This record gives sequence, structure tokens and C-alpha cells, in this order.
Amino acid sequence: MRLALDFESPLPLYGQISRHFRDSILTGNLRPGIRLPAVRSLSVDLGVNRGTVESAYAELMAEGLVTSRQGSGFYVLPHAPGEASVPRRSEIWPAWQGRLKYGGYEAMSAYLPEASRQTDWIALDGGACDPRLFPMDEFRRMLGQVMRRDGVAAVEYGEISGYRPLRTTLAQVLASQGIQTGADNILITAGSQQALSLVVGLLLAPGETVVAERPTYAGALDVFRARGLVIRTVGIDEDGMDMAELEDILTRHKPGLIYTIPNFHNPTGACLSGQRRRQLISLAGRFDVPVLEDDYVGDIRYEGRAQPTLKSLDPDGRVIYMSTFSKMLIPGLRVGFVVADGPVYEHLLRSKRCHDLATCNLIQRALRDYVSVGRYHAHLQRSCTLYRRRRDAMLAAMERHLPSAMTWTRPKGGLFVWAALPEGMKASELLPKACGQGMIFAPGGNFYLDPNEGEGCMRLNFASNSEDVIEEGIKRLAKSMG
Ligand SMILES: Cc1ncc(COP(=O)(O)O)c(C=O)c1O
Repeated sequence: MRLALDFESPLPLYGQISRHFRDSILTGNLRPGIRLPAVRSLSVDLGVNRGTVESAYAELMAEGLVTSRQGSGFYVLPHAPGEASVPRRSEIWPAWQGRLKYGGYEAMSAYLPEASRQTDWIALDGGACDPRLFPMDEFRRMLGQVMRRDGVAAVEYGEISGYRPLRTTLAQVLASQGIQTGADNILITAGSQQALSLVVGLLLAPGETVVAERPTYAGALDVFRARGLVIRTVGIDEDGMDMAELEDILTRHKPGLIYTIPNFHNPTGACLSGQRRRQLISLAGRFDVPVLEDDYVGDIRYEGRAQPTLKSLDPDGRVIYMSTFSKMLIPGLRVGFVVADGPVYEHLLRSKRCHDLATCNLIQRALRDYVSVGRYHAHLQRSCTLYRRRRDAMLAAMERHLPSAMTWTRPKGGLFVWAALPEGMKASELLPKACGQGMIFAPGGNFYLDPNEGEGCMRLNFASNSEDVIEEGIKRLAKSMG
């Protein structure tokens, strides 16, 4: 135990020990039923005599915070909540508000209402895939295999850029998608959220301009706001970003970055058409602006032909490509990656080092084995088959239960249906009613710079629940609309 006693303090040593345990008990860090350290071992640890520890414990007993059990030691007792709680050292923070540089962002967490979750709560608001599909047993075996095979190398920091064999494997996978790159241009990140944050931090200073679709991924808005950027948004239809509007913004505002989600856009599900992809690359060249291509679910396709990635169309290395294993496998591994050229890559590496030194080595090694033996591919095919059925189930349920005044998209891939509410209905007002019925959706406002603009819309995730749960969730949504 690392309790540092102050031998010069006017507070006696036993008082310092009792204060430490009192604080831990009252803040809930030592829970009722927990046994305090044995008197003898604590006295050795702290370099005091046993009588000092006994006096401290006696004081806690007198206060009703602990009890002693014959021959077995001292145990924490339950206490009434709020009883003599430890003062939180937060008084300075209001005065320090101005020192908190990046405090004004909240899109990702803003919409969850206070409603208490019911046991049969149906969540159609999430941004992830179905975690129950994750191949738990196989992955556990791979982790064991890696530890046996690689020994301590598997648990060292590893290269900043990421585990080389994983980067080589990714380069091969990317080549099959037309992105000719190599391990030396791939940086493994802690999810693609970190890639986004690193790229934005590298290319844009506070006050500079970034362009994104309107609406866009709430987590990207969070990053842009957190960095104090000026955000310009471009409208989107079923063929993706409006190129005329983009050109106008490029002409007038000279942005430092275009951020785009060309495949199964979050939240609308739209795909940038082939023609617009070429136009975008040509505009980026003409205005000499970098593009960040966020390909977060590019492989989750149910129908239609894949369009070329922007990166593969880019002759000059202006496009920075990022993707993730979060949606196609599971978010908790926290493995994403970014592909960049020249000095951008070198600077991203330095920036990554400042942030976290490296992404988890052990997980990268297991993931590499999983991807390279073809299991990942098989998993992807299984997931796509299932998610496609769930998409169809959601669309059919919406057709059956929701008012005819509503419209929605029919996504060809990805995870979401984007729906427009009947005229005059507001998502933020509907949400508490839906929660009251035991379901939750993501209100459109989350995805807009000005949340009022998204009031008429909602995003529904069809991938993370079974077909009968989806049916019930949509029924509840319909009920909440009255
Ligand atoms: C469009 C998009 N990009 C990036 C991310 C970040 O995901 P992760 O950090 O888990 O890779 C998300 C997560 O929801 C997303 O929807």
C-alpha cells in the first residue's frame, strides 16, 4: 500500500491512517464488506508500530465505519448515502473554466436522455455492429497462440507505426481495393477516431476551416469543435456531397481540409457516386486542399457495385485514407488505421508518439493472425448476410408501423436507416416519448452543426439487434408518435 505518512505533520500518524481509510470508505472506493489490511502487515508496510494502526482502526470503529470480526480482521460497514461525505476538491474549477481549452463539444453524448433504462429497453440509436457476432472463442485462441509464439515481444510497446506484419497484411488488403500502398505508409491507431483527431490536429490550427458533409458523423463534429475550427458544411443527397456547393466553399473560404465519408455515410447511408468522386479529387487538386476519406464501413455492402476509394483515384497523395475494425469486427479492440504519404505520414507518426506511444501490441498481433488466415473475410461475409436481413426487417417494419407521412432511405450497405419525420414533428420532442415506450433512436440534431436543422430526422441502427427486436422497437417508435 502506498500511503505516504507525513512524520513531520502535527496530525498524529494514527489520525493520518484513519483519515485515509475514512475518505476511501465515504467516497465508495472501499465498499461495505471489504476487509481492511491486516494490522501487522500494514504496520510493516508503513513503517509504524502495530499500536498506531490499531488506534486508527479503533477510531474508525468508534465512528461506525468498520467493524472487527474475531480472529479475522476489520471490515467496512455500510453507511447511509451522503453521510459525512468527503468534500470534493472542485471549488477551484469554476474559476478555472477559462483554462479548459476544449470544453465546448458534446454532440456524441448530448442526446442520451435521463430516462432510466428498462430491462427490455430497445436501443436503435447505437453506432456499432452487433457485438454478439464477435468470434469470441476464435479470438481467445488467437490471443493464446500469439502469447505462446511471440512471448514477451507481444507485450512490449512495439513500433509506433504499429505491428509491421499487420501493416503488411493491411497493405495487401488495400491493394485489392485499388489503394497501392505499403506498410511504411500505414499507421495503426486506437480506432479511427484517433486517426481523425491526429490528422485534424496535424493539418489545422484553431480558427482554420474544415469542410464536412451536412449532416455528418457526430464524433467528427466533436473533434472539429474541440480544436476550435471553423466548420463549413456541404449538403448531401443520395449521390453524396453536393459538388457545386463544395466548389463554392472552396472558392470563398480556403479550407485546410475536406472531411468526407464516401461509403454508406453516417448518418444518411448515402454513397458518393463515381462521377462525384472524380469531381472531388479534381476540386481538391485545383484548390490544393487535403482530403480525409473516412471509410468506416466500406466492406459492409449488401448490394450494388463498390465505387473506387478516393485514395485510389488520387494521383498526388492529397487524400489521407482512414478505416477501422470497429464496425466490421468489434469496437472494443480499438484498432483503426490511416494511410498517408510523404511528410504527412512522418508527422502523424510523431503525433501518435505524443498521444499514446503505440496501439496495443498484443491485440494487433492477434488481429493480424485473424485477418491473414481468412477468418476475418468469412466473418465479414456472415455479418453482411445477417445485417442485410436485419436491414430488410427494419424497412418492412417501418413500412408496416410508421405513419405514411414519413420517408426514409434504403441503404445499400452500412448500419443505418435515415428517416424524415412527418412535417412539424421534432426528434428532440419525440425522443422522451420513445424512451417512455422503451426504445431509443439517435435524433437528427446530433449530426448537424446547428442541431435545429436535424430536428425533422432520426437515425436508426438495424445491425445491432435481431429481427424480432427490430420489429418490436419500430412498433414502440410508432406508438410514441401517437
Ligand atoms: C463515420 C465514423 N468514423 C469514425 C468512427 C470512429 O470509430 P472508431 O474509433 O471506433 O474506429 C465512427 C464511429 O462511430 C464513425 O461512425
